[in-house]
Amino acid sequence: MLLAPLLLPLLLLALAAHALYKALSSPLNRIPGPWYARLTSLVLKWHEFRANRTRYIHELHLRYGPAVRIAPREMAFASAGAVREIYCSGGSGFDKTEFYDLFRVYGRRTMFTTLDKDHHARRKRIIADRYANSNIVRPKPLGGIAERAAKFAQRCAQSGLLVEFQLGLHAYAFDCVTHHLFHPHGTDSLLQGGKDEAIMREVTFDDSLQNRLFQHYWPTAHRLLHKLLYLFAKPRETPLADHFVLDSCNADDSAPFTLLDRLREPAHGLDPLDVAAECLDHMAAGIDTTGDALCFLMWEVSQPRSMRFQRKLQQEVRQTKAESPSSFVVDGMPYLDAVVMEGLRCFPAIPMSLPRYVPPGGRTIDGYFLPAGTIVSCQPYSVHRIDTAVFPDPDTFNPERWLDPKGDAERKRLLFAFANGGRGCVGKHLALAEMKLLLQAVYSRFTTLPDATMTEADMEMSDQLISSRPAGQRCLLRFVPLQESELLE
Ligand code: HEM
Repeated sequence: MLLAPLLLPLLLLALAAHALYKALSSPLNRIPGPWYARLTSLVLKWHEFRANRTRYIHELHLRYGPAVRIAPREMAFASAGAVREIYCSGGSGFDKTEFYDLFRVYGRRTMFTTLDKDHHARRKRIIADRYANSNIVRPKPLGGIAERAAKFAQRCAQSGLLVEFQLGLHAYAFDCVTHHLFHPHGTDSLLQGGKDEAIMREVTFDDSLQNRLFQHYWPTAHRLLHKLLYLFAKPRETPLADHFVLDSCNADDSAPFTLLDRLREPAHGLDPLDVAAECLDHMAAGIDTTGDALCFLMWEVSQPRSMRFQRKLQQEVRQTKAESPSSFVVDGMPYLDAVVMEGLRCFPAIPMSLPRYVPPGGRTIDGYFLPAGTIVSCQPYSVHRIDTAVFPDPDTFNPERWLDPKGDAERKRLLFAFANGGRGCVGKHLALAEMKLLLQAVYSRFTTLPDATMTEADMEMSDQLISSRPAGQRCLLRFVPLQESELLE
């Protein structure tokens, strides 16, 4: 009886001693990192909630090197060897963590949200051919993208040449991806606006980061407190987009090149909600990524420090247009390629960690043994910057580094913007075609300059759940018709 008041303190002491023992005896202790990462993940979470995970981890890499412990059970890597092991071993690398549960749509798992390899491989076998480069460059799919790129240039010319172009680029990416998913039922948010623009805005201006992080880390508390939480942190709600996709999936005249057409083939046995979930997922995956990758890239190309790159890009795209005025060209333009690669290197639309579990039996990465169940990841932002032998002066935008044949293989090996291996971006060729056709449409007609009201802070990288966007959520550029700007030189 006399010992009863001591029971609780003794229990707490035993728990604390156990936690300390685990922290001190963890096999991860050999791995460099801040001391507190051995004990708690709270500092990491603090940065995540403040939309700053990517930069925080990058600072740790700069301080501790390419292998860093960021939480008691979590490691970040930034080397080519780690990318190969985590994302490519056995074809599609290690299994995804439950972080990806946050991206389920209509309550279903899609290719992106399947956690284990076998489910993923089954779904990918159905989907991959619609995103193969050979399908993207066919006249109908590519012509649709070129048509939308021309509309974007038309919108620039119409709007008094001062363009809120982040929004315009999201509209462009939205119209391109819905063309590829649903043609002839794609959207026209670029020129028609209205209902289509409202859907694009709903997806673009989502502010659910904190709510969804809370849901990921504390699911039970989230279930109990979600109404209260709503007052401080909005959940992700996209009713317009949800309805648009369900309606589009009901149409029975989708073009043969579209994803919808493929998913609905009876042999695959997908029910209508599976089909809609996959399409909604790809639609969301295709808007912010391509839109913001272009936005950051064009913002940089418009700066005085990058004007010489813009001039060379203009020369190449104008020459190509003069040589083949009526065809859409996505290959054979080395300067355009270099600008796109450097844009993706400096401003990867998904800059953050792509988390995976170390498989049973454990694995050795960069010389460190990691037990099964450890969370490991690489973030494109750091993979593109940490090896200064491959990317000298890594924070400087310099497309011409990609034109040097020396080191080409090493640069390509470290380009991780679309991830790597079997779970890398399936939409890569579509995204590249969209980016290249848009840059051609703009830089064959205009010089772009930053508007005076814009600040560097507006264009700071702000982490969202997996992608990043300009912190100011706006980007104003002036589009000066080319003849006029040439006269100014
Ligand atoms: C510049 C544009 C883009 C970038 C930088 C990008 C980047 C990425 C990255 C890094 C991943 C891997 C994510 C992870 O493992 O967590 C990914 C996956 C994916 N992306 Fe993209 N993406 C872009 C455009 C697109 C487009 C246009 C589409 C489709 C229309 C798309 C559809 C997907 C899908 C479906 C996945 C999941 C693939 C799988 O799990 O097998 N992406 N993307």
